[in-house]
Amino acid sequence: ARAARTGRRTEPTVIGPLHESAHAKINLYLHVTGRRPDGYHLLDSLVVFADAGDVLSLHPAQRRPETGRPEIGRPEIGRPGAVGLDITGPFGAGLVADGDSNLILRAARLLRAELDDTDLLAPVRIVLEKNLPVASGIGGGSADAAAALRLLLRAWPGRAPTRERLMALAVELGADVPVCIDQLPARMGGVGERLGPAPALPACGLMLVNCGEAVATPAVFRARAPHFTPPAALPAAWHDVAAMVRDLAALTNDLQDAACMICPTIRTVLQVLETAPGCRLARMSGSGATCFALFDTPQAARDARDAVRRPGWWVWAGGLHAPADQRVTA
Ligand code: C5P
Repeated sequence: ARAARTGRRTEPTVIGPLHESAHAKINLYLHVTGRRPDGYHLLDSLVVFADAGDVLSLHPAQRRPETGRPEIGRPEIGRPGAVGLDITGPFGAGLVADGDSNLILRAARLLRAELDDTDLLAPVRIVLEKNLPVASGIGGGSADAAAALRLLLRAWPGRAPTRERLMALAVELGADVPVCIDQLPARMGGVGERLGPAPALPACGLMLVNCGEAVATPAVFRARAPHFTPPAALPAAWHDVAAMVRDLAALTNDLQDAACMICPTIRTVLQVLETAPGCRLARMSGSGATCFALFDTPQAARDARDAVRRPGWWVWAGGLHAPADQRVTA
């Protein structure tokens, strides 16, 4: 009504709160197949997602989500297109909600720059519940960035870039961000920007273990032995866990030895996982330090948890994430 009276455009509005989960990414194998002239490595990897993750919530910016009270003394919060960030959760303590380093805020800035009429973008506040260990090879930061893109596309409806453009924005944020947009099993190529179909997977059990030591990805790539592994030959489907494990056992994570040199505790984690009851395969994910183990069922993984727990270790057990309703088709 006010807009009609004054002839001005309506104020941006936002529905909310909205929620998105940012699932842990697991590299079932990871081959380094080559190197680009800019130093980035070409990969061939089978990526799946665990039913464990961070949770991002998006709220209208003028109100504090925890209290429902109006934001006071933060005039920047209410500007159109403004995105604020609060971080909570068991692994939230060390993270800074800083615009240059935080991938959620970098994602917001990148998307906002992509949309033309920022006057119509509702100001929002994102709350990150950080449940996954950081800098740990399971793509937590990448999954958060992808979830932030999905949230903002929902909060700023009707303004989505094409899917191709969205994927280009994603890879600008990090090599693992494109695969985290859909959070579906995928065959990853290029530096992470080439995504293809994964073999159909059986509903296996999964355990994740992180020893609490952060490992820097560039250091692991620098320390790796300078050989390349060809892309793997995979079937169209694995009908049971035994068949999947048999084929995966012949493949490698080419970053595992380098990560173990930098962080020897990873070897201990792998030994503990390998001897856990029901473990079919144990391997490191990404550039580490998180390792995963495959089991016949999610319950078998949960049953083995107590045998694996050690002081200071993060241990999660469950199944794969199957997000049929979460495809971003913009
Ligand atoms: O893309 P992202 O920021 O996750 O990568 C972190 C670092 O890991 C890069 O700066 C690069 O040193 C290394 N990296 C690489 N090849 C990839 C992915 C990452 O060399 N495909």
